[in-house]
Amino acid sequence: MTDALHQAFLRHLAATSPHPLALDIIAAEGCHLHTRDGRRVLDLVAGLAVNNTGHRHPRVVQAIRDQLDRHLHVIPYGEFVQEPQVRFAERLTGVLPEGLDRVYFVNSGTEAIEGALKLAKRATERTRLLGCRKSYHGSTHGSLSLTDNTAKRFRNLPLLPDTGHIPFNDPAGLEAITEQVAAVVVEPVQGDAGVREPDPAWLQALRERCTATGALLVFDEVQTGFGRTGRLFAFEHSGVVPDILVLGKALGGGLPMGAFVSSTERMDLLSHDPVLGHITTFGGHPLVCAAGLAALEVVLDEDLPEHAGRMGALFRELLVHRAIREVRGTGLMLAVDLGDADRVQRVVHGCLEEDVLGFWFLSCPTAFRIAPPLTITEDLVRTACATILRVLDREAQ
Ligand SMILES: Cc1ncc(COP(=O)(O)O)c(C=O)c1O
Repeated sequence: MTDALHQAFLRHLAATSPHPLALDIIAAEGCHLHTRDGRRVLDLVAGLAVNNTGHRHPRVVQAIRDQLDRHLHVIPYGEFVQEPQVRFAERLTGVLPEGLDRVYFVNSGTEAIEGALKLAKRATERTRLLGCRKSYHGSTHGSLSLTDNTAKRFRNLPLLPDTGHIPFNDPAGLEAITEQVAAVVVEPVQGDAGVREPDPAWLQALRERCTATGALLVFDEVQTGFGRTGRLFAFEHSGVVPDILVLGKALGGGLPMGAFVSSTERMDLLSHDPVLGHITTFGGHPLVCAAGLAALEVVLDEDLPEHAGRMGALFRELLVHRAIREVRGTGLMLAVDLGDADRVQRVVHGCLEEDVLGFWFLSCPTAFRIAPPLTITEDLVRTACATILRVLDREAQ
């Protein structure tokens, strides 16, 4: 059975790499993945910063069950009043600052970036779009145009015209933000660059430059959102509020979802001249909204941002080893940099052999990622670190 399934996996599913981990998952609960061959794997990846409330949190599962008994998809986005959608948008905007009071729900992070880019062009009547060096914003053409990863881009050229990149966390780069620029898209903590935190003063200066030139500041919080960095949203660390906020990953409580959020005035532009200025069939799916709302309530009620901050500090305290050059990050968005890409490969595989799952970054081969469910306990952090240190000891011999 296992072999047949594995063969079918290799034969029928489009592959994303020649060497997938191919763990055969039959269940997931809390911080653990269960495989068909009876392994219980400690998950330090959380579906890539998705399962912030842990796998199958009972309140999220119950919310999905309740909605399942009412209705699934009924109409493309925006036409009918669907209670889970309305309640979720209401709750979400309730925890966001003024000016971020209208939510457009879509289906993924990259789609939310696309919506934000369209909104920025529309609101400013400008065309130039800027991203940052080493950024990652998704895999569709618009997102890829702002992503700075040559290897991912070059087979897809030409991408969107009139785009460019400014250096991340470098005041000198801000001069490129001119009155021709519609939007500057920034991760408030860069994820796939290997977890890079900017100086809050740079974010302030970025905000000021955007305000002065009329360019819209877009924060991509697809990876940083919902408590991951020790605050509900990463922008809270600096207090810099964007004009458009882009969300995804943990937003849907384990189901697929993205959203872009902005002011009523700006968002209204998408509803006329032309009408249906942005359209999605499935965006704001009621089942996903029910799950997302329940997950947000869990994040708030269990104060998971604060817990993430404490557990992140514990990881940093425990992960001390001669092979570790640096542990970067905040909360439970961490990069363990070994300064050696081959060693990273060996350590990630070595940990997995001991049932601890870490993962790679797209643009930082010398480090591996720690981004567990925010519900991880102190005991599990200690178990994870003991395993990582043991594997490092063994492999450094
Ligand atoms: C910062 C950031 N933005 C956008 C995306 C794209 O999200 P999705 O994979 O849901 O399209 C990702 C995915 O990793 C991300 O990390």
